[in-house]
Amino acid sequence: MASTFCQKLLLLSLFLLFSAFSAKAVFPRKNQLHFSPTSSLAKIPAEKLIRGLNLFPKDVVNAGTDDLTVETSKIVEKQFRFPVLGAPGPSVKEFGHHAGYYKLPHSKAARMFYFFFESRNSKKDPVVIWLTGGPGCSSELALFYENGPFHLAKNLSLIWNDYGWDKASNILFVDQPTGTGFSYTSDENDIRHDENGVSNDLYDFLKEFFKQHPQYVKNDFYITGESYAGHYIPAFAVRVHQGNKAKEGIHVNLKGFAIGNGLTNPEIQYQAYPDYALNTSLITQSDYVSIKKLVPSCVQAIKRCGTNSGDACVDSYQICNNVFNQIMGIAGNVNYYDIRKQCEVDLCYDFSDVETFLNLKSVRDALGVGDIDFVSCSSAVYEAMIMDWMRNFEVGIPALLEDGIKVLIYAGEYDLICNWLGNSKWVHAMTWSGQKKFGAAHIVPFVVDGAVAGKLKSHGPLTFLKVHDAGHMVPMDQPKASLQMLQNWMQGKLASSEIAERVTPK
Ligand SMILES: *[C@@H]1O[C@H](CO)[C@@H](O)[C@H](O)[C@H]1NC(C)=O
Ligand SMILES: *[C@@H]1O[C@H](CO)[C@@H](O)[C@H](O)[C@H]1NC(C)=O
Repeated sequence: MASTFCQKLLLLSLFLLFSAFSAKAVFPRKNQLHFSPTSSLAKIPAEKLIRGLNLFPKDVVNAGTDDLTVETSKIVEKQFRFPVLGAPGPSVKEFGHHAGYYKLPHSKAARMFYFFFESRNSKKDPVVIWLTGGPGCSSELALFYENGPFHLAKNLSLIWNDYGWDKASNILFVDQPTGTGFSYTSDENDIRHDENGVSNDLYDFLKEFFKQHPQYVKNDFYITGESYAGHYIPAFAVRVHQGNKAKEGIHVNLKGFAIGNGLTNPEIQYQAYPDYALNTSLITQSDYVSIKKLVPSCVQAIKRCGTNSGDACVDSYQICNNVFNQIMGIAGNVNYYDIRKQCEVDLCYDFSDVETFLNLKSVRDALGVGDIDFVSCSSAVYEAMIMDWMRNFEVGIPALLEDGIKVLIYAGEYDLICNWLGNSKWVHAMTWSGQKKFGAAHIVPFVVDGAVAGKLKSHGPLTFLKVHDAGHMVPMDQPKASLQMLQNWMQGKLASSEIAERVTPK
């Protein structure tokens, strides 16, 4: 099969649910904005990505009309209650589910949508924010298919997720950048093109969130996410840390960040594609030799993007994705998020229920989203971020490590697109004071229920974890292990998990 440009879409994690906002928050009819695509070459991959998830958003971007009657207060949040089957689990009876909009201050008319789920365990649990990738995919994908409090049954009933991350944290799922999910704007200028724009919006939101929820401000705070969030997360963590140091308003108790199957250092990660594909027998040795020849021009292009930005970054996106496309041309119908699987027709996954669910009248009423359509994965947001794709976001991480911010890089072993090998390589290549000791650290088993669920390596604040029997979306494939990972890591006990639960050698 010819090279199909199928790869571009890394991110997916998602979820949504909600409930009502202030009665005044009525959103009148929509106004279609015409966004000029940054690059027409990005359109095909974005659409391919969205189809691969069986998502068919009505709009390419969420461009709702600004409603002048919405009060100027920056956060409008309502508690909601959805009927959920089964029991939420023991412990705390009083926990709340909230959905809200935040009017972004550094925008003309953008509103950011989020879900906030209080912990099922204790309000003293850390506050965690989850970011799905894409770029342009809604975090509601993760909410409903990965680590949210409930999952969707085939008949669109909600069922409690025994391994929702709300069992160990007070968790936020945010739709961003603007135009994604239920987040929207009426002004094209609000569409973001880089991590500066993205991280400033997230930081503004976070400060306002803690202002509105002062009871959580002293809790530990962690940033988490997946896929293209390998760009968002380090940029956001750097922004928060800078803001804390410069005393820009409320102090955010940032303790660490975790990236699952992320794209963080493209120069190293793109070089790892042929290696991973050969190791997993997606390609033969002779394919490997010919594909490897494409790598030097990709590396050069990424370096030019690093120095020149702009068009050089669009070029590198195109040049480097040749490497991926060649591999997919040989691998055929394989699901690049989980190489154990095939993509049936165009669909690698079927996440269509989330769109159906979020467009139910009862759900929309509960969430108070008015006429705003839900855009599961926005092709316009994806295209707008093309120049950001090949930029290296590892660069900000060493300074955070030196200041004791914990970093967890984890990866499901069967994902091709953001594979564990490329992630392991950049983590090892990163220059910081603990680099040597991290490199020399022993690989130890990550044990869940007495069985090896992964392999991990750790030194000081840095941990790398390869998760077994999982693809791109670790919490979907290994829900129990992913919850234990989060919990142990936040408690500083991940590296010693093999001591806690002795493994019987096999
Ligand atoms: C929907 O599916 C769930 C799980 O399969 C089941 O428990 C529930 O009874 C179903 N609800 C209806 C209305 O059919
Ligand atoms: C395969 O995996 C091994 C061990 O993880 C690694 O050292 C090697 O570079 C990989 N690539 C190839 C082409 O063997």
